[in-house]
Amino acid sequence: MIHPSSPQAHSIDTLWDVSLIISTVVYVVVIISLIIGTYRAYRRSRSNDSSVAPSDLTLKRVVVASTLVTVAILIVFLGYTFATIKDVNPKPASDELRIQVVGHQWWWEVNYIDPDPQNYVKTANEIHVPTGRPISLELLSRDVIHSFFVPALQGKMDLIPGRLSKLQFKVDTPGVYRGQCAEFCGHQHAFMAFYVVAHSPNDFYQWVYSQRKSASPPSDSLRKQGEKIFLSGTCAVCHNITGTLAGGTLGPDLTHLGSRTTIAAGILDNTDANLGRWILNPHKIKPGVRMPSNQLAENDLRALVAYLEGLK
Ligand code: CUA
Repeated sequence: MIHPSSPQAHSIDTLWDVSLIISTVVYVVVIISLIIGTYRAYRRSRSNDSSVAPSDLTLKRVVVASTLVTVAILIVFLGYTFATIKDVNPKPASDELRIQVVGHQWWWEVNYIDPDPQNYVKTANEIHVPTGRPISLELLSRDVIHSFFVPALQGKMDLIPGRLSKLQFKVDTPGVYRGQCAEFCGHQHAFMAFYVVAHSPNDFYQWVYSQRKSASPPSDSLRKQGEKIFLSGTCAVCHNITGTLAGGTLGPDLTHLGSRTTIAAGILDNTDANLGRWILNPHKIKPGVRMPSNQLAENDLRALVAYLEGLK
């Protein structure tokens, strides 16, 4: 949060800085006053001279002055907070990029909305965006309440079943920004992470163009065998791979799985070894996860992993 990379996060960071500075000054003044007061009371008790005690009028003045200062500080906080709320909720822009994010236990579905249905892009756990363009997120949930939180880019926003929430931001610089579900949503809440990957507009266009394509059919025999295992087994019941017969919607879309940097909602690097471990026994990595374990011969697992990792 203290390394903001969007106008919205900058605004939140400024509010935080102002609050910290004012609160620190108040804290120091209160502590110094306490020390001075205690010291004077101690001296009075030793000298037994009541004439040095502050008069009622002085006490009254101190109380009125500190009350007025407190109210003034609260008004400053209030003003800053209203200004920040206005900044973090910008008006919809005509060139905004609309992305629907759906929370699931315990992963993120990401849909790029386009007036032309052919240009729809579906992915999971990684949100690619261009820098400098307003992003408008439409947040939904299929099960329980989740919360979308990328500290470097925006404040939190809940994903509530049956309700649409919106969140807007604009990323300043290309980079990878970690996000995390910020509302307890069950067993694997802590392992419900994701990444926002910000590209230059050109790089983003290339990414989106490659994601619009269907999966390329496997060319070598190992990957062909992997595809067969995927389509004939239970995988295709829950997962979609556009361009094949697999059309499940319960789990993440795998059409371009090989192009992602992580699997299992940001928990594991996307490597052959990790994907193999995940397919065999996901419950060892994320206990309670909805994906069942799979019993596969070593050769079959190798073919399946080769097929999936080849889906760039
Ligand atoms: Cu989803 Cu916590």
